[in-house]
Amino acid sequence: AEGDAAKGEKVFKKCKACHAVGADAKNKVGPELNGIIGRPAGSVEGFKYSKALMEKAAEGFVWDEAELMAFLTKPKKYLPKTKMAFAGLRKEADRENIVAYLKQNP
Ligand code: HEM
Repeated sequence: AEGDAAKGEKVFKKCKACHAVGADAKNKVGPELNGIIGRPAGSVEGFKYSKALMEKAAEGFVWDEAELMAFLTKPKKYLPKTKMAFAGLRKEADRENIVAYLKQNP
């Protein structure tokens, strides 16, 4: 189903301790997420990614909706050695809504 960006903004509260989006977004514990859909993995200047994520980057991996949905289900299952300490979003609707919200932040 198509996500709802307004609902996704609320779900994004779970990400905000570590991630920012928007014009003045800075890297925090995690990299800023502007334009993340269609963005090459591990590509934020000045952010120190894990070796696991840099290996994906070296393969030329680009985040798309399907990969983001899979990653956010259980980050540590998707990328076992990621340093993203987040259990995941169990509900598919939450993931769809987050994706819709992130699409609004190019
Ligand atoms: C990486 C999304 C929650 C910390 C990433 C990446 C995405 C993402 C897409 C890859 C970025 C890239 O390749 O440039 C999200 C979303 C979240 C969330 C949508 C909420 C649903 C969190 C939380 C934390 C966190 C709560 C901190 C406790 C990190 C870190 C990385 C990362 C440290 C780098 C991972 C690595 O280098 O292995 N996140 N994240 N994230 N995130 Fe999150």
